[in-house]
Amino acid sequence: MEIRVTRGDVTQHQSPAVIVNLFDGVKEPGGATGAVDRALGGLISSLIADGEIKGKSGEITVLHTPSSAYSGFAPDRVIVAGLGSSKSFGYDNVRDISARVARKLRSIGIKNAATIAHGAGIGGLDPDKCAEAIAEGSLLGLYRFDKYKSSSSSDDDEEDDSGGTGVDLLEIIEADESRIPAMETGVRRGEAFAAATAIARDLVNEPPNVMSPTALAEAATQVAKEAGLACEVLEAEKCRELGMLAYLGVAQGSKEPPKFIHISYEGDSSSSGNDLWLVGKGITFDSGGLSLKPAASMVTMKGDMGGGAAVIGAMKAIAALKPKINVHAVCAATENMPGGAAQRPGDVVRAMSGKTIEVENTDAEGRLTLADAIAYAKSKGATRIVDIATLTGAISVALGKGHMGAFSNNQDLYKAVEEAGAAKGELVWRLPLGSVTKRQNNSRIADLKNTGGRLAGSITAAHFIHEFAGDTPWVHLDIAAVNMSDSNSGVNVPGATGASTRLLIQLALDLAQ
Ligand code: BES
Ligand code: MN
Ligand code: ZN
Repeated sequence: MEIRVTRGDVTQHQSPAVIVNLFDGVKEPGGATGAVDRALGGLISSLIADGEIKGKSGEITVLHTPSSAYSGFAPDRVIVAGLGSSKSFGYDNVRDISARVARKLRSIGIKNAATIAHGAGIGGLDPDKCAEAIAEGSLLGLYRFDKYKSSSSSDDDEEDDSGGTGVDLLEIIEADESRIPAMETGVRRGEAFAAATAIARDLVNEPPNVMSPTALAEAATQVAKEAGLACEVLEAEKCRELGMLAYLGVAQGSKEPPKFIHISYEGDSSSSGNDLWLVGKGITFDSGGLSLKPAASMVTMKGDMGGGAAVIGAMKAIAALKPKINVHAVCAATENMPGGAAQRPGDVVRAMSGKTIEVENTDAEGRLTLADAIAYAKSKGATRIVDIATLTGAISVALGKGHMGAFSNNQDLYKAVEEAGAAKGELVWRLPLGSVTKRQNNSRIADLKNTGGRLAGSITAAHFIHEFAGDTPWVHLDIAAVNMSDSNSGVNVPGATGASTRLLIQLALDLAQ
């Protein structure tokens, strides 16, 4: 879909559909919506008076406005998008309503549409950031993964709004010429965030027989090549030389070879301390290993490389937006399988850092791979580490789908992560790393064990990773609950969400300032 900013007047714009908006409870629309209402002889305000349009968040009303009936009004249709309460209104609402409207356009077969810049008028938001949110939201909302569907396959699923082949053009109409250049920059930024997220979603949505560690490494190499970045893939032998035996212990139950991926972006090569290391969990399928998962828990485990997918996708946008900071993406990719050579519950492995780990449960594999990926980042001189992982089922119990879990040893880096997430509608909630829960990882025979018992499962997992991050400023994001969506919901569609990709890009931009 092409998105552009066009100078003009929505009432005179020749288009199959123009999109205007309404805040909850407004009886007489103002701004561009008011101008459209007047040009239509009060059609919108009469529907408001009838109670048919309320301005509730997510409400979408399609009005047909043929020129035979409404002389002097150019568009064939008007779509009124409800923005919800004006008090709690922000860029998240702009992104979400844009996603919903885009899906509506697709489902009713409208290929070209024009929109006013939601939020930039009466909403009082920055026009460039509104343009960014509109572009990002529309593209994210239209995302779909249908490469394995035969074109002839039809379905009668009522929840499926994916009918239609897509939207070709979205124009953002702006009357004030002086705002247009900044809005265009905003659109390009929104496109970069959405494209990176689409990469992450694609990698997660691919079935696990296709998206092996080898395929993930090839995809990372391809993304890096297109973005002009260096990508190194370490083979098992190299990882063994480096002492990554915690990572290799997870890999040994699979016939798929592990691939350790490292992509580098040099945005400030003269300052080696100005860096950010993004470490993503990359389990391309998590069967649980010998501590085998029950069938129902295994079905979504192709998504267990969601953190790795996010860091790979993020690098694409970081390369395009060029922040003045060095950013590295690391992903220790492997399957977790129960093959004949699989590690056993009870095994003790020595991690790259030198610490020994008792593997009490082979299904707590993510932390084992992250331990070595973080040690690798530290061995390369990392001064800031953010790891992103579908780490624990327990995070869903604690926080549900509204926030990712966050853990940190550094207030400044944590704040930066929280703010980057808030700017992109990817909310995080910090949980504590206290001394009582830390003890749960104590092992009788090794330095620590990889499970901490039934209580505080997400916290003990984070304590484990902290052992390897040490004093290096570090944030751990547990994205297990938000990595996949079951339904259309704002910018998310069923399947992979690409969770944290946009947060990570924003973080790189913010830290560079
Ligand atoms: N990949 C899972 C966590 C997960 C669960 C992600 C649900 C997405 C949805 C992780 O490797 C895992 O199996 N964790 C165990 C840890 C336990 C064995 C200590 C869990 O959460 O049950
Ligand atoms: Mn597991
Ligand atoms: Zn896992």
